[in-house]
Amino acid sequence: MNSNTRHVVSGLLAAIVLLGFLLPMLLYTNLKSMKIYLTTIKLIHGVDNVINETTHFLNSFDSSANLLKSHHQHSIIQDVTRAPIKKAEMPVTVMDTLNNSQIGVSKSKERPLKCDGCFSKIFKFEINNADICKTENANVKLLILITSSPQNSLARTAIRETWLKHAKMNKEKIRYIFLLGESPETEEIKKENSITKDIVLGNFKDSYSNLTLKTIMGFQWTVTHCNNTKFVMKTDDDMYVNIPGLFQVIKKNDHVLQTAVGGYCFKIGQPHRDRKSKWYASLRSYPQKTYPGFCSGTGYVTSLNVVTQIVKISKHVPFFHLEDVYISLCIQQLGLRLYPLEGFMEQHNSDPCLYKDEKLITAHKVPLRWMRHIWQTPCLKGDQKTRLINISSNSLAQRFFETKIKSQ
Ligand SMILES: *[C@@H]1O[C@H](CO)[C@@H](O)[C@H](O)[C@H]1NC(C)=O
Ligand SMILES: *[C@@H]1O[C@H](CO)[C@@H](O)[C@H](O)[C@H]1NC(C)=O
Ligand SMILES: *[C@@H]1O[C@H](CO)[C@@H](O)[C@H](O)[C@H]1NC(C)=O
Ligand SMILES: *[C@@H]1O[C@H](CO)[C@@H](O)[C@H](O)[C@H]1NC(C)=O
Ligand SMILES: *[C@@H]1O[C@H](CO)[C@@H](O)[C@H](O)[C@H]1NC(C)=O
Repeated sequence: MNSNTRHVVSGLLAAIVLLGFLLPMLLYTNLKSMKIYLTTIKLIHGVDNVINETTHFLNSFDSSANLLKSHHQHSIIQDVTRAPIKKAEMPVTVMDTLNNSQIGVSKSKERPLKCDGCFSKIFKFEINNADICKTENANVKLLILITSSPQNSLARTAIRETWLKHAKMNKEKIRYIFLLGESPETEEIKKENSITKDIVLGNFKDSYSNLTLKTIMGFQWTVTHCNNTKFVMKTDDDMYVNIPGLFQVIKKNDHVLQTAVGGYCFKIGQPHRDRKSKWYASLRSYPQKTYPGFCSGTGYVTSLNVVTQIVKISKHVPFFHLEDVYISLCIQQLGLRLYPLEGFMEQHNSDPCLYKDEKLITAHKVPLRWMRHIWQTPCLKGDQKTRLINISSNSLAQRFFETKIKSQ
């Protein structure tokens, strides 16, 4: 090879490296694609492969210093970024404004918005911990209802050992229970409960389509066994909840929550009519053209007052399988409000300390390892925090993740 050829070959190689590798990396690592990616996670949160990617993504970013090593992640990020956000992946089609031609009830009589006692199921608790709210300290501020699936014992353990530590073993101002239904695992659940004493299991089959039953069961339990609480949070076993942050939100919205359900709320939505959708609603189950909005069932907060009213009205609101929509149908009948709150269903971030910031209240699909990592990471407060960010913002990794929460 003469030097000319060598020159050409090395030039070609450089071009290949630059075009095929460095340029895409630069493109993919920019803030915007990161934001789009995170927004995508937020929007199509139900999709398995996005969850998988989030898992890999977060696991590989235990420290943001690993960032450069894992450049191959970016192509995955890029794929997700480029993939059109499939409308069918949202529980409802979210609309910014109400389009008048879309309001109105179709002529079908299949599911009336109200009825006379057609859903007056009173649940029995096959596993109960009726004393959870009854201790010397009657001053219960917040009850957390966590819908859980029987097989998710690892998830329950992880959250008991992390953010639920704030509940101080159900002895102080925060109380919590896991809500379950019947399943082949019921015997194991009984064993688990004999140690943890934090499970309420109702007399219905545990299944995704029965989630509404689970929530109403939890609300009935609340009214019967925990009517000394002021506020009620409903969340899932795959959620991270920033309890100190939640307390700030409750304090700030104390009054509003007496007549509203607050969280990651949408004003109006359209049912999915595609049979293949996870959130399919047949015309028979819901003939109306729009939902009266909803607050994502991944986490919403309200007061005992509202929960008590929902339990009463639910007898006259026909069953609907999408739990968060069902609650909003009750809210509509009650003339109460859905109230969007900042920080619910927040974007994921590589910095564990941002999960303890007041700006993040809940995060969805948090891998268990990541949950423990967040919990174990010591974080600075106030001024110290700003200084830390200033110092570390020099590194490329930090720049990449400078996506301040909600900084759109
Ligand atoms: C997600 O990952 C699990 C194992 O890590 C795998 O079994 C599953 O098929 C993956 N799902 C998708 C949609 O890629
Ligand atoms: C309202 O909805 C109808 C039918 O869905 C559509 O044809 C129309 O363009 C919409 N109007 C606006 C202003 O979005
Ligand atoms: C919901 O629970 C009821 C009561 O146990 C049961 O009959 C029904 O089959 C369940 N539905 C689904 C879809 O699992
Ligand atoms: C709360 O429940 C107890 C019974 O568990 C009942 O005696 C009491 O009156 C209830 N309080 C309110 C405010 O409903
Ligand atoms: C951090 O940087 C910002 C601007 O980038 C500056 O306004 C702020 O004073 C700095 N904070 C500290 C503690 O140095």
